[in-house]
Amino acid sequence: MPVEKRKPLISGNWKMHHNHFEAIQCVQKLSYMVSKEDFESVDVSIHPPFTDIRSVQTVIESDDMRFILGAQNCHFEEMGAFTGEVSPAFLAKLSVGYVIVGHSERRELFGETDEVVAKKISAVFTAGMTPIVCVGETLEEREQGCTEDKVLSQVRAAVAKRSPEQVGSMVIAYEPIWAIGTGKTATAGDAQSVCSAIRREVIVSSGNDVGDKVRIQYGGSVKAGNAAEIMAQPDIDGALVGGASLDPEEFSRIIQYRLHN
Ligand code: PGA
Repeated sequence: MPVEKRKPLISGNWKMHHNHFEAIQCVQKLSYMVSKEDFESVDVSIHPPFTDIRSVQTVIESDDMRFILGAQNCHFEEMGAFTGEVSPAFLAKLSVGYVIVGHSERRELFGETDEVVAKKISAVFTAGMTPIVCVGETLEEREQGCTEDKVLSQVRAAVAKRSPEQVGSMVIAYEPIWAIGTGKTATAGDAQSVCSAIRREVIVSSGNDVGDKVRIQYGGSVKAGNAAEIMAQPDIDGALVGGASLDPEEFSRIIQYRLHN
């Protein structure tokens, strides 16, 4: 059993939404709606598009907000001839704390393999940030009963050959692909069962202490109305929220899930 309960991490993945003006407004509105007590109970990261990051950083720092800045992706090299790519070192310079790696949209639409994802995880750590590594099965894989095979093979690829310190500090986001942006959520019980299998896999690869430490998020149509039930599951330590994080009011209610039990 964990010695100390893992502090939950609620992450807002804005995807390709909100230009930098809208981003500033959204973060400001959100900051009025969350309290000091909220930040004592949960960590909150915000992952705007790259073009917004500098603006959001400025607002967070000048108003002393406790949101942690996040990114949605990065390249695995530090610099070089990679037209259109963004270096993890540049993100770290903007005080980015968390980088989403291997989101299913990146894997499915932009051909990211487990190998590329592993390189990105290493690059994020090298730059001093924390990866949020996404794993999840398609509807077809779920219907064929292959959920755990798929998810655990992605987890194995993400943790292979890493130090226990790295594995213990990473965040793994279980996001069933069929639940992303569809309004369908895995039942809390189903999500718990996959997240618990993920934790067991981490224990097998890296030991009990690391398994206790690693934070596992659930993502896929998380809303204010289902956040409390999802967050109550013992192996779910946070949520990766897409659509519902675009609306400050809805997102603030997710951050305050503990008040809406
Ligand atoms: P959703 O997206 O909350 O809109 O389903 C989640 C995600 O893709 O991270």
